[in-house]
Parts: sequence; structure tokens; C-alpha cells
Amino acid sequence: MDEMDFEDRIMSASEISEDISGSENPLRPKTLDEYIGQEKVKENLRVFIEAAKKRNEILDHVLLYGPPGLGKTTLSQIIAGEMNVNIRITSGPAIEKPGDLAALLTNLSSGDVLFIDEIHRISRAVEEVLYPSMEDFAIDIITGKGQMAASYHLPLPKFTLVGATTRAGQLTAPLRDRFGVVLRLELYTPEQLALIVKRSASILGIPIENDGALEIASRSRGTPRIANRLLKRVRDFAQVIGDGVITCDIARQALDRLEIDELGLDANDRRMLEAIIRFYNGGPVGLETLAAAIGEEAVTIEDVYEPYLMQIGFLSRTPRGRCVTVAACQHLGLQMPNGVTAGMPTLFNMND
Ligand code: ADE
Repeated sequence: MDEMDFEDRIMSASEISEDISGSENPLRPKTLDEYIGQEKVKENLRVFIEAAKKRNEILDHVLLYGPPGLGKTTLSQIIAGEMNVNIRITSGPAIEKPGDLAALLTNLSSGDVLFIDEIHRISRAVEEVLYPSMEDFAIDIITGKGQMAASYHLPLPKFTLVGATTRAGQLTAPLRDRFGVVLRLELYTPEQLALIVKRSASILGIPIENDGALEIASRSRGTPRIANRLLKRVRDFAQVIGDGVITCDIARQALDRLEIDELGLDANDRRMLEAIIRFYNGGPVGLETLAAAIGEEAVTIEDVYEPYLMQIGFLSRTPRGRCVTVAACQHLGLQMPNGVTAGMPTLFNMND
């Protein structure tokens, strides 16, 4: 999908359900009831949605934050569906100029949801237009230059901005403060992911045993997007090396061949941990130094690798840089370098 398509995509709640059950992504839940996990987020959202509907008001602006792949886009679609309004989906980098934002906003209908993914990446100039839009539902536009300059006060339809970001800390305080509802999504437990895997398998018509679902779930780093991806790959193995049913044994063999270990670490995670151990004596090592050493972007390390490695107690962030833990060394079967010693977490398994 090119960028124009993406920006121009506007869907009514009913179109969304068609989209989701049709060509788009059949695995996306369409209602809060279908959405597994994130219990606190769901319960609170239910209250805010019901209250807004009771008062016949639009829903306050919502900020969703947390690691990638946890369902922020899905939740925004569910919010629109539950509010019975349309949603328009765009992303921070796609809104290049204030005029792009003005075009998006003026095309909304009253009550619509505008979803901005990666909202931390909007430019300052766009942010300046976003503030008054969120607060007063109006924008001031200046046209022309010099003597021809003129300013217009343009009222906008009332709308709900749903912003998503992997890093709430990178939003400017004024932008963050304009969201009435701020919700943090958390990594899923293996049990929750197993439910998601079974639900997805049933939608896709993949035969799976409970143990098989739990095996995939425990190796999915707390992330539904990864769980659903692994489910499809494991199905391939089940059909080629097995009889099509995903059993625990098939799942194990498949995931081993995909180089995803029992804790869900892939080759990249292991490469990063090993680099810290081998080149930096277990740490501390600065983020940028580490990024250069393994040829990754610092943001990828922060957003994609670190949340899970920290959750399972393999990595710690200190003021002087990243350190691996005893548990990580044990898991990798490597000698503990000097410096990584007492007081660090020992092996912790999400399944325990
Ligand atoms: N598919 C992806 N994420 C999901 C979730 N949280 N609940 C149900 N199905 C999902």
C-alpha cells in the first residue's frame, strides 16, 4: 500500500468489520469482548466509551503506548467500532506538512476517530497545528505572503485523536498533556498469547493442540503479532513434516529450525547479548556504541529488542549503559564476564 492509499483510507465501523473479516487481517478482533488480554486497558476504555456515549459526547483524545506489535492499531479500530464512528488511519511520518494535517482534519465527520500511529515522529510544525485542533477543534491558517497574507480561523468537526507510540517519553509535554486518556499496553503472558494463538488458528482453520499453542505462545516474546506470525510458519512445518496438526512436538521442532529458542529469543537477540558479553565484558555499554557494534539502529534496539529482554531479566539499563545479567549468560551458556556477579536476577522463565 503506498502512502496516499494509507492516508486516504477511511472506513466506517461496518466497513472495518468487513475489512477485518475480509481481505485485510482476519485475525484482528473487532470488539473489546473479542480482544484478549490488556485487562486494565479494556476495563477503563469500556467505562470511558460508555460514559461518552451516555452523555452523547465524543470520546476524549486517547494515547496508547507500549512496545510494537501489541495491538495499538487494532484497539483504535475497536474504539471507533464501539463508538459507532468512522476511523481514519495515518502515521506521524506520513503527515509531512501542517497542510496535510489540515486536509485530514477538515475531511473528518463529527465524532470520527483520527488514528495517528508513531505520533512521536510528527514534526514540530505539524505539532503546532495539532495542539489547537485537539483543544479547540479549530485551526488558524495563514495564506499568502507580505501584503497578501491573510489568516483564517477554520472550525473543525469534533473528533477523537487516538495517538499511538512506542515511546511516550519522546512526546513533548504539551502534546502528551492534551490526551485525556493515556493507556499503557503491556507484554502479554504466555497464557494470554496461547488464547490468541488458538483463536487465530480457529479463524484460519489450523488444527492445533493446547500444548502446541502454548509452545508457540511461550516463544513469542509477549507479542501477539509475533505469535500470529509464528503460528503461520509452524503450520508450514506441520503440513510438511507432520500430518497438519500443530502438536507440542511439531511446534518445538519448527521453532528450533526457525532459530527461536525456548524463551523466544531469536538470532538477533542472542547476537546483541553476546556482543555485550564478548566485547564489553557484560556491560555497561552505551546504546549508540552497542548499536554500532551490532549494526542496528539504536531505536530498533530500544523498541524491539530491549522491552522483552528486560522483562525476562536478561538485560538491565543503568545510567552508565546496558548490562547483561547472570541469567542471560546462563541461558546463552557463556562464561560470566567480570562485573556480572552477585545481586543480578537469576534465570526467570515466563512460564513459571
Ligand atoms: N490478535 C492480535 N491481538 C489480539 C488480541 N489482543 N486479542 C485477540 N486477538 C488478537
